[in-house]
Amino acid sequence: MVWVILDMNRKKMNRKKIIAGNWKMNKVIEESLSFINELKEAVRGINDNIEIVVSPPFTALSVINDAIKGSNILLAGQDVFWEDKGAYTGEISPMMLKDVGCKYTIIGHSERRQYCNETNETVNKKIKALLRNDLSVIICVGETIEEREDKRTFSVVGRQIRDGLKGLTQKDMEKVVIAYEPVWAIGTGKTATPSQANEMHLFIRDTIKEMFEDKIASSITIQYGGSVTPLNITELMLESEIDGALVGGASLDAGSFVQIIRGAV
Ligand code: PGA
Repeated sequence: MVWVILDMNRKKMNRKKIIAGNWKMNKVIEESLSFINELKEAVRGINDNIEIVVSPPFTALSVINDAIKGSNILLAGQDVFWEDKGAYTGEISPMMLKDVGCKYTIIGHSERRQYCNETNETVNKKIKALLRNDLSVIICVGETIEEREDKRTFSVVGRQIRDGLKGLTQKDMEKVVIAYEPVWAIGTGKTATPSQANEMHLFIRDTIKEMFEDKIASSITIQYGGSVTPLNITELMLESEIDGALVGGASLDAGSFVQIIRGAV
C-alpha cells in the first residue's frame, strides 16, 4: 500500500502542473492590462514546476503578449480555426495565434460545443491544425447533468477523448493537455467532489493508455475545471490524478487567481 502511494506521488511529481485562467468573453484591453500587471507582480518568483496561463479574448492577446514579456506567465487562445489561412471571414488561424505569442489554445470548451456547433470532429481538426503549427492544446471534455444522470458519463467523455485525439502520434501527445470540465459544474458554483473528479481523471488516463503508450498516459497533464475557487483548489490538487485547473469566473479577479495559483503549488 505504502509503495502504491509513493509510486503515485512520484508519477504526479513528474507531471507539469498548469493553472490556466479562461477569461471567456470578458475584459477590454484596459481591464486586461491592469489585471496582467497585478498578476505579474504577484506571481514573480513562483516557478515550482507550475505553469501559469491566461487566456484573454482575441482582441487583448497582442497587448497581453507585450505585457508578459520576461514574466513566468504564458498565453493561450480560446479557440482557433482549422485552416492556416484563406477566405474564412471571422476566423483566427493557428499561425495568427502563434504570431501573438500563444503557447496554448483551449479547444472544445463546452460553451463552444453548446453555442457554436463544436463537435468532436471539429475539435479533432482544430487540434491537428494547432499541432502542425507547433502550438500546444488544452482539450476540454466533460458530461452534462443529463448525461451523468443517464449513466453515460464514461461513454460521452471516452468518445470526446477518442474522437478528439484521433490520428495523433505519440509525439503530438507531448503537446496535449486535457481539461476535465463537467458541464454541470461550470459557472454554477457546484464543483465536482475531489473524488468524483479523480475518478474521471483516472478514466481519462486509462483511455489515453489504451490509445497511446503508457508513458504518455502517466505524463499527460489533466486539469480539472468547473467552479474552481481559492477555497477548493488545494483539496482538488491533493488528488492523485489532478494536475491543475482551468478556471473561469474565479480567474477574472487577479487576487483570487493568485490565491488559486498559491493553493495549487
Ligand atoms: P468556471 O468555468 O470556473 O467559471 O466554472 C470554468 C471553465 O469554463 O473553464
